[in-house]
Amino acid sequence: MSRALPMLDALPVAAHPRLAALPTDERVAEFLTDDQVLPRFHVWTLGCQMNQSDSEEMAGALLAAGCTEAPVIDQADLIVINSCAIREAAEHKIIGRMGALGRMKAANPALRVVLTGCSVRADGLVDLHRRYPEVDLFLRPDQEPELTQRLGLASATAAASSADGLPAQDTLQRVGIGVAATADRLPGTRAAAVESGRVARASRSHAWLPIIYGCDKTCTYCIVPFSRGPERSRPFDDVIAEAHALAASGALDVTLLGQNVNSYGHDLPAEPRFGDVHAKRHLGRDLSLDGRPDMAALLHAIDAIRDGNDRPAIPRLRFVTSHPWDLSDRLIDAMASCDSVCEHLHLPVQAGDDTVLRRMGRQYTIEAYLDLVARLRAAVPDIALTTDVIVGFCGETEAQFQATLELLRTVRYDGVFAAAFSPRPGTPASRLPDDVPADVKRRRLNELLALQEGIGLERNQAWVGRRVEVLVDQVRRPRSHDHEAGEGSSTRVAGRSRVNKLVHLDGGPELVGRFVEVDIDHAGPYALSGRLAGVH
Ligand code: SAM
Ligand code: SF4
Ligand code: F3S
Repeated sequence: MSRALPMLDALPVAAHPRLAALPTDERVAEFLTDDQVLPRFHVWTLGCQMNQSDSEEMAGALLAAGCTEAPVIDQADLIVINSCAIREAAEHKIIGRMGALGRMKAANPALRVVLTGCSVRADGLVDLHRRYPEVDLFLRPDQEPELTQRLGLASATAAASSADGLPAQDTLQRVGIGVAATADRLPGTRAAAVESGRVARASRSHAWLPIIYGCDKTCTYCIVPFSRGPERSRPFDDVIAEAHALAASGALDVTLLGQNVNSYGHDLPAEPRFGDVHAKRHLGRDLSLDGRPDMAALLHAIDAIRDGNDRPAIPRLRFVTSHPWDLSDRLIDAMASCDSVCEHLHLPVQAGDDTVLRRMGRQYTIEAYLDLVARLRAAVPDIALTTDVIVGFCGETEAQFQATLELLRTVRYDGVFAAAFSPRPGTPASRLPDDVPADVKRRRLNELLALQEGIGLERNQAWVGRRVEVLVDQVRRPRSHDHEAGEGSSTRVAGRSRVNKLVHLDGGPELVGRFVEVDIDHAGPYALSGRLAGVH
């Protein structure tokens, strides 16, 4: 038997009060009585690691409520779309699926569609109805913990929803830059989800660990501060408790997550136990971190979680993303001195010209950025550096673009994520003329990618002949010539080295989740390959 989920509101928050706590809501009370009708759900995740992590939490809440997961979207009667709004193309991926979703709903009247993630903003709900007509319920990122409650599935998770001790009506507050209405309950709900094992992690060996939500920076092109609100750090002890839980569950490669992990702690209260933290920003707005936990304190504390042999219980620790503003000497020292912290840093630069950087609101100069790179390379030999670049930002001249290419030649990144500027409605840059023509943006992007392909290849060739430790995380399809070889053809697996290089090797599924030693014998621009030399 299948019965429809309750049809819920999707009205602007200001015009429609938050739903009362269950079970007093009549619209869903009858739905709760029969647990045979729980929907099969599918979470479709777009965007960055933050969204992947949030999706794990939502999937965990749905599983805890008794729902089952549909392996493919067509088999679901509850579709949760976790959206990304970073560029127009990301939003069009979802808008382009509205027709198909409409047909699925016609065939399955029980089907409900939830849209959450960065496309859902407090100030845009009327427009959302027009753009996403098949969506039944919109949830801002900060409302995601309410998912099961809003769907009438909250009985199993109601305790978690109030675990931060705040009554529901008190949690909505207007903060930050005015357009982001942020119910600041994420740290509390995350802690409760971790404590009760309600995070449906996609992997046993790799894990996301969110440490700070939102973004306080001033990048004029970026939608994230509007979608995710201002920076809110999770309490230090909650993060450490989650790290302990991950270590106990066998996680081997943990990534601390946030839009700006480096500013972790600036909004937490000072405490005597962090009396040795004396940190100040080098770049951007003045910010004193004295006496507050910072990223360095966090890395040291997680590194100090040890196994029986006094080795880090989490052997690989990473963090993403770092804004150059907050990359303190303390953090560089922690990277150099903590055994578990991997020798890789993603340090977005965005452009290679100071005028463009100023217009972008990045608040550092190329000279200051290069100084950081030099300090990192001096402290952490072999460190791999990756970055983000936007080409064709408002007013970018050919000479300014060439300065970005020059920067790539100077720094010699291991990888570059580049995209053409996409104006985002409501951001400061959307009021500047988007005056670099589309074909010029495309040409600049291709030129940059071609340059980086050569640099990436050279950086990777330096690994040929070396033995590296790889944590295998995937089975690859056999290479095409292996098909012809028929029986006995080798299966391939792949994984990441400490510096985050993708490494391919011969091997079977039994290697997934294991550390192996690999002798590198081949390098391409985006990956390495080699021979298995040992299994830990
Ligand atoms: N917080 C990170 C930082 O600034 O260091 C970046 C996070 S953002 C989710 C990922 C990347 O998207 C940015 O570094 C930027 O290169 C790109 N991006 C953001 N807004 C964009 C836009 N309007 N058009 C093109 N790319 C954009
Ligand atoms: Fe966006 Fe800038 Fe914040 Fe990164 S630091 S999320 S680019 S506003
Ligand atoms: Fe996209 Fe939001 Fe991440 S806009 S890149 S999903 S923070």
